Amino acid sequence: MVRRTHRAGRLCRVVSRVCGGAAFAIAAASVGCAGDVPKDPPPSPWEGVSWPAEVVAADNPTTAAKAELGRLLFYDPVLSSDGETACATCHSEIWGMGDGLAKAVGVGGGLLTGPGRDGPAVGRRNAQSLWNVAYRTTLFRDGRASTLEEQALMPMHDERELAKAPDDVVADLRASDGYVARFAAAFPGEAEPVTVTTLTRALAAFQRTLTSRGASYDAYVAGDVGALSEAAVEGMWRFAEAGCDSCHAPPLFGSDGFYARGAGATPGEDGGRGEITGEAGDWGAFRVPSLRNARDTGPYFHDGSVEDLEDAVRHELARDAPGGEVDEADVSAITTFLEKGLTDQSRAPARPDEVPSGLAVPKDGFRIPR
Ligand code: HEC
Ligand code: HEC
Repeated sequence: MVRRTHRAGRLCRVVSRVCGGAAFAIAAASVGCAGDVPKDPPPSPWEGVSWPAEVVAADNPTTAAKAELGRLLFYDPVLSSDGETACATCHSEIWGMGDGLAKAVGVGGGLLTGPGRDGPAVGRRNAQSLWNVAYRTTLFRDGRASTLEEQALMPMHDERELAKAPDDVVADLRASDGYVARFAAAFPGEAEPVTVTTLTRALAAFQRTLTSRGASYDAYVAGDVGALSEAAVEGMWRFAEAGCDSCHAPPLFGSDGFYARGAGATPGEDGGRGEITGEAGDWGAFRVPSLRNARDTGPYFHDGSVEDLEDAVRHELARDAPGGEVDEADVSAITTFLEKGLTDQSRAPARPDEVPSGLAVPKDGFRIPR
């Protein structure tokens, strides 16, 4: 990644807005910053950043049949002991592939999902967004899983999530003609297509389709200068100047490192990465979340203790600012960049009306107007 001189870049950017695409190089040269101007406008703080290669699991290449089966399983409460909770209960397309709650609520919370959902099985952490999960090399906020296939069983084992043994799930899937046919089509050549392994492979293949690279920022860096408003462009530069990109690195605006940010209602109460490694230095550290689609993934931080994106941005700015002093113009510009620049849910999955088990598909309690 090549970091450009931000101030000079901003001056050139203003010129480019005034003069438009064709006149850009000449106008920029006339104000003396031609050396700083990339050949291809528009300017951005990050050059040479490209989208990561598509992730193909060697033993589980994604096929349409597998991903479609995975989608049905993802929305099907047959995976839970109460027959009402699905993966989608906590990872809903309406809530940025999260659930809109501070802390996830598993079995016993009924069919309704989203803010307002309540129940006896309240988890200890905020549900993560699954957007672009294919590109992550560590999973969960503490990095305790490393592949989507491995991860998929954990919510079934978790008493506060789906609380159903994977073997029992498989037994129920084998009793469903609809699933038997779909597993056979998705895993041709398997003597017994419905197994715990194929269940996890289908769920993983579906989740690898949840990519989000069509945000306004992407259009902008691909050459569409008008894709970002002036305010969003301003926020992009301020984001870089504040050093947010050292952890929330483009193009995913996240990374696989673990850091303690002093966030949360009681910082340090949840050991995060430290609970996995046993290292004192990792206590309270969490994996850097991607900020793509952050507009819709609140509440924020590992315990969902911050409701608004603007407040999360303010916390992060204060964390790194000398004396903790925050320029409110930074807060609002950066929030605008995140909300307007990094949102793309064009590949959000369709919620099925019916699932092969015949159980009712969880429903969101309400939608917030956007
Ligand atoms: C009761 C709510 C709940 C249910 C049900 C649930 N999850 Fe999650 N999910 C969470 C929470 C909470 C986390 C973060 C937990 C942590 O970091 O310790 C999470 C994290 C994840 C992650 C890690 C994402 C990342 O970026 O690291 C994946 C993948 C995932 N869930 C997939 C699934 C799948 C697949 C299912 C269904 C088999 C499922 N979840 C069911 C609440 C839930
Ligand atoms: C040293 C690495 C690092 C830097 C620098 C950093 N962040 Fe973060 N950020 C994190 C980590 C780690 C978390 C998760 C913390 C947690 O959940 O407790 C996070 C969380 C966030 C969240 C909440 C996202 C969510 O889904 O919960 C936002 C918003 C955010 N950061 C914005 C920023 C902004 C804006 C800046 C620049 C002012 C910034 N961050 C700088 C590491 C960093």
